[in-house]
Amino acid sequence: MKIAIIGGSGNMGRWFARYLTKEGAQVIITGRNQEKLLSVGKELGIPTATNIEAVKQADFVIISVPLDTFESVVKEIAPYTRQKQIIVDVTSLKSRPVEIMHRHITKGIVLGTHPVFGPGAKDIAKQNFVLTPTNKDETALADNIKQQLEDRAAIVSIMTPQAHDEIMTVVLGLAHFIAIVSADTLLSFDKFQEMKKIGGTTFKVLYTLIESVISEDPQLYASLQMNFPNIRNVETLFQTNTKIWADMVRNKNKQKFAQRMDSLREKLGKTDPAFHSAYENMYKITEGL
Ligand SMILES: NC(=O)c1ccc[n+]([C@@H]2O[C@H](COP(=O)([O-])OP(=O)(O)OC[C@H]3O[C@@H](n4cnc5c(N)ncnc54)[C@H](OP(=O)(O)O)[C@@H]3O)[C@@H](O)[C@H]2O)c1
Repeated sequence: MKIAIIGGSGNMGRWFARYLTKEGAQVIITGRNQEKLLSVGKELGIPTATNIEAVKQADFVIISVPLDTFESVVKEIAPYTRQKQIIVDVTSLKSRPVEIMHRHITKGIVLGTHPVFGPGAKDIAKQNFVLTPTNKDETALADNIKQQLEDRAAIVSIMTPQAHDEIMTVVLGLAHFIAIVSADTLLSFDKFQEMKKIGGTTFKVLYTLIESVISEDPQLYASLQMNFPNIRNVETLFQTNTKIWADMVRNKNKQKFAQRMDSLREKLGKTDPAFHSAYENMYKITEGL
């Protein structure tokens, strides 16, 4: 099978190009900056092309470009897509990209996908994928891709693009926001190295979150924050809760603090059957480092 990766010279595109080539697929990559594209092609030992040339040749097209350039890329390639060709995107949001693909691509089957991992992933095994089919043909394609991914031990969820975005607003949006604000706060203190040296498990968990977010591409993370639906509501709720907890501390309201924390523990125990002991969970995370 011939696979074209539009944006194959980028972080995720390169990851998929390497993985799919190893899996035996014939991969062709594209990118905007020619020098960078040729260098990645050379590094991976695979051919490069323009977006249009690549789409013309491929049975399967993966669009791996940032959200900001997504529509112009889809518009450019749409006239060259054909019946039975498969076109998937890997954008971290799904409603808008899927709507854009439907609007411009009238031939071939499109499918929204989101690999919920970064380019640092060692393997596909245990990685999360979300597939967002919206009709019968897309559902058949999603079932097929799900099977192939699960055969390689990936974890696959199927849902609507809207449900995906709603969940990702909290799963990625809030997590990224907390990590960035925490980094900003943490780095305001001196003695950072000492903190790292003597910090216990809770600090290690916090620092792992900070490291994993701050080491990523700022352009991508800024674009995600600006595009998550209802992110303002989520972050406003977070700010409101921050104030409530800070006020309890400021007013030395020990009993109210403990009661509210206790009720959170109770709620979490009821909502999440996997929540047994906070320490057990934290050790699991830090042991995996
Ligand atoms: N990074 C992650 O952790 C992650 C995880 C899951 C999903 N995603 C999604 O994956 C997509 C790519 O992210 P990334 O991190 O790989 O970004 P990236 O490193 O910036 O790569 C983007 C690629 O798209 C290319 N590109 C941009 N406009 C183009 C155009 N008009 N024609 C051809 N190529 C074009 C870029 O080429 P130039 O560099 O030459 O401009 C680059 O090769 C995004 O939609 C992102 O939401 C990212």
